[in-house]
Amino acid sequence: SQQLMEKIVALCKRRGFIFPSSEIYGGINGFWDYGPLGAELKRNLKEQWWLQMTRFRDDVVGLDATIIMHPRIWEASGHVATFSDPMVDCKTCKGRFRADQLHETPCPRKPSKMVSECEGEKTEPRPFNLMFKTIVGPIESEENVAYLRPETAQAIFAQFKNVLETSRQKIPFGIAQIGKAFRNEVTPRNYTFRSREFEQMELEFFIRPDEAVEAIYGEVARPAGPGHPGEPQPNWGWQMWHQYWVEERIRFYESIGLPRTTLEEYWQKPEELAHYARACVDIQFKFPFGTQELEGIAARSDFDLSQHQRYSGRPMTVFDEELRAAWGRLEPSKQQDLQERYYRHRLGYLTRMGEPADKAEASARQDAEMLGKGYYIPHVIEPSAGVDRLALALLCHAYDEDQAPNEKGEPETRVVLRLHPRIAPIKVAVFPLLKNRPALVEKARQIRDLLRPHMNVFYDDAGAIGRRYRRQDEVGTPFCVTVDFETLGEKGPELKDTVTVRDRDTMQQTRVPISGLLEWLQSRLR
Ligand code: GAP
Repeated sequence: SQQLMEKIVALCKRRGFIFPSSEIYGGINGFWDYGPLGAELKRNLKEQWWLQMTRFRDDVVGLDATIIMHPRIWEASGHVATFSDPMVDCKTCKGRFRADQLHETPCPRKPSKMVSECEGEKTEPRPFNLMFKTIVGPIESEENVAYLRPETAQAIFAQFKNVLETSRQKIPFGIAQIGKAFRNEVTPRNYTFRSREFEQMELEFFIRPDEAVEAIYGEVARPAGPGHPGEPQPNWGWQMWHQYWVEERIRFYESIGLPRTTLEEYWQKPEELAHYARACVDIQFKFPFGTQELEGIAARSDFDLSQHQRYSGRPMTVFDEELRAAWGRLEPSKQQDLQERYYRHRLGYLTRMGEPADKAEASARQDAEMLGKGYYIPHVIEPSAGVDRLALALLCHAYDEDQAPNEKGEPETRVVLRLHPRIAPIKVAVFPLLKNRPALVEKARQIRDLLRPHMNVFYDDAGAIGRRYRRQDEVGTPFCVTVDFETLGEKGPELKDTVTVRDRDTMQQTRVPISGLLEWLQSRLR
């Protein structure tokens, strides 16, 4: 598997998917650049996510927020206090390591040994905050410190009210965002898997608290068993929504060419959950270096919006007309029961956040009263994925070698990226059979121009046709179009204005009329 990883890394470098950042200066650890093909691959991934998560849905809208935000956001979110890894310094080799990875990190002085078994004198583990700091404005002082966002999620919470008020959405609905995130990882590793600068695709899906659902519908639908629960229903509680998003996300991965069998669902154990999370599922992919997280889908209750309400002083409650109307029809005992449960939930949160008991009780009591008037802080389900990890997973899954006949008809090893056509960086390559025949070249260029507004086309007239196919196979181009003498009508009228389309996976060639070529390709790329 290490060999496989080496082949993938070499291919990515050789063909312009991924380069070390700042390579001419020796690189910079944990930073990677995407070359021409990598840039297209990432764009396609983000485009698919955006289409499926927002455009094709009525209940999700988009956001594009800044990377640097008010530093109070990171106090409210808990990142300033707790977003850290345990770190150990080695006084002997001057290395700095993650305390929980000493047994898998080679010693810089004696690479045959792991840091855990080398003789170097090490410090006790201490927390190391992963946020990158910077200064905003011309004066370098403590109060001008700001952070590069370590996740895109917090901007969604901070803009929740603006989006709610301007988008005409009602709970349940979601806000989606794609963008850069930064973490000063102690030990970036496994190629792009753990980087210091990366991109996230995050959805915060806001739902009613279960008490509100029960007040309106009399009951809360909970999952009866595993699998997709179907179209969203108004009486879904948080568990149903959580299961729904886990399944939706797996379907997304299937739609871009990662079969379910390459993925694993890891349901975090109660003791592994962050204190605010009610449940969290990691969707893992079987990378050559081990089964590792691609995406986390967390049920975060009303923690985030509650924190921003406390820190900003702005109310994060929504008014729910259906709840207000339903409340008046409830038996007083039912009202009391729901309010009591809501009170206990709010009290639990406030107590965990260190509010003094009397203040917490008064505040939770008030929240419970407001529930009866139709107000609550929405709860959240958060599917959060990494673009770079997904790109790496797709490259690993797509990499293949098979045997294909060379020019002389002898079998030869062929490297082929079996990328799903939806995400392949080049959709179609167009070749004139020979580059020294102006009629062939002109026709091929016309076809390139015909297709270009609709997809990423690559024109190539260099070398033997077999070699041109191989170059495209290696980067995952699903189709190659060749303009030959038949196209020009030189071999008879019946094949005039047709081209051969060669399929990457089957290597079969099909004759397609130029007039129907665009549609032929589009129907196979969708
Ligand atoms: N808002 C929740 C959140 O940020 P996370 O599990 O810390 O959760 C979500 O990150 C996703 O972001 C991960 O599943 C992973 O795909 C990606 N990610 C996180 N840290 C990363 C890193 N250092 N390099 C590349 N991708 C990373």
